[in-house]
Amino acid sequence: MRTVELIQKKRDGGRLSREELEFLILGYVQGEIPDYQMAAWAMAVFFQGMEPEEITDLTLIMANSGDTLDLSAIRGVKVDKHSTGGVADTTTLVLAPLVASTGVPVAKMSGRGLGHTGGTIDKLESIPGFRTALTPEEFINQVNSIGVSVVGQTGELAPADKLLYALRDVTATVESIPLIASSIMSKKIAAGADGFVLDVKVGSGAFMKCEEDAVELAKAMVQIGTLAGKATVALVTDMNQPLGRGIGNALEVKEAILTLQGQGPENLTELCLQLGTEMLLLAKAAGDAREARSKLERSLKNGLALAKFKEWVAAQGGDPRVAEDVNLLPQARFQENLLAPRSGYIHAIDPLILGAAAMHLGAGRETKDSSIDLAVGVELQVSEGDFVQEGQILARIHANDPKHMEAALGEAREAFRLDQGKPPARPLVYRKITAEDV
Ligand code: URA
Repeated sequence: MRTVELIQKKRDGGRLSREELEFLILGYVQGEIPDYQMAAWAMAVFFQGMEPEEITDLTLIMANSGDTLDLSAIRGVKVDKHSTGGVADTTTLVLAPLVASTGVPVAKMSGRGLGHTGGTIDKLESIPGFRTALTPEEFINQVNSIGVSVVGQTGELAPADKLLYALRDVTATVESIPLIASSIMSKKIAAGADGFVLDVKVGSGAFMKCEEDAVELAKAMVQIGTLAGKATVALVTDMNQPLGRGIGNALEVKEAILTLQGQGPENLTELCLQLGTEMLLLAKAAGDAREARSKLERSLKNGLALAKFKEWVAAQGGDPRVAEDVNLLPQARFQENLLAPRSGYIHAIDPLILGAAAMHLGAGRETKDSSIDLAVGVELQVSEGDFVQEGQILARIHANDPKHMEAALGEAREAFRLDQGKPPARPLVYRKITAEDV
């Protein structure tokens, strides 16, 4: 086989076989195929796309290019949840204990934040003592004993994706739906779950800016999961405003705790209930969506979900008292309020601007090696559609550096658009994509 012929075949709209993709991807990982040829192939895919079976072959080759996690020692059906990335999206911290409290095991590997989106592992590390690096044995034993564990990545999962993603990043080939879908699903499949609930974000704060593209990405991922023999569904959900109100690591943990206490923001709570419903259905822990939702609602109401959160935090070495006293989480030295410059309805709260403001405060990484400040961030006090009076608090900024505070106040001010007349409400969930839809 010759690499140049495979590039040519894709350039001319052909479909590569599994053997041809294996030659290409494994050759690249082994350093036998140079960056310039891989970049040419990625650009050919960008313009020509890929067939569903071809995307699945690519995904499985990438998933098997390094370590894979074997979760078969965990009893029950393991369903993973993945979000394509948003702002104030702390669903994993709510869903993990909530779903586990209904008896469905949650064994999850999560990542760190990059750019304006946060990462679950950073958030968990703002709980004093919390250990995110467990051995595979500790991880599996913990799920078998208390039903939940969330850890950072161990071993080298899908190294082919790591290499290819870095190449795509510098060759203008990130925005290709087959390449995004295979990149995400290869890491998910390598992490060993039996099924996946995908939260595909759409809107100004998401990768996918329009519903049509988000639905296409959701369909591609559901198709890969299904063809790979894993039960998979996707919800296409709104990211035109931050999902919750806390943006920043400790602030998002606080918000997850409030949500588990039944006092969380409406959108975050509702999305957790809808994603959790899908997880219970895939795990066959409920006969229908109504039964699944009522199990989750009951767990929130009777305190079982919060109790599971405490048990989980304690099992990973963290201080479970944070669930009763959020002041035990890291606190920033300075707090200032951003006030409404005039009265009016809130027509827009730009998640990208607020995510960037939180990142500039130190909550997120500009590059993969930046260090982060767990205490800082932005805490919204309003949602889209609210009416505010002039001088009312729009957001509270938490900073550890007065210079950062000034900059963040200025930046965050730009995120709010006030106008006359109540804006029309937007759906939280636009579409559900199942295997039948693809
Ligand atoms: N996230 C990923 O993991 N891969 C992509 O290609 C895009 C987003």
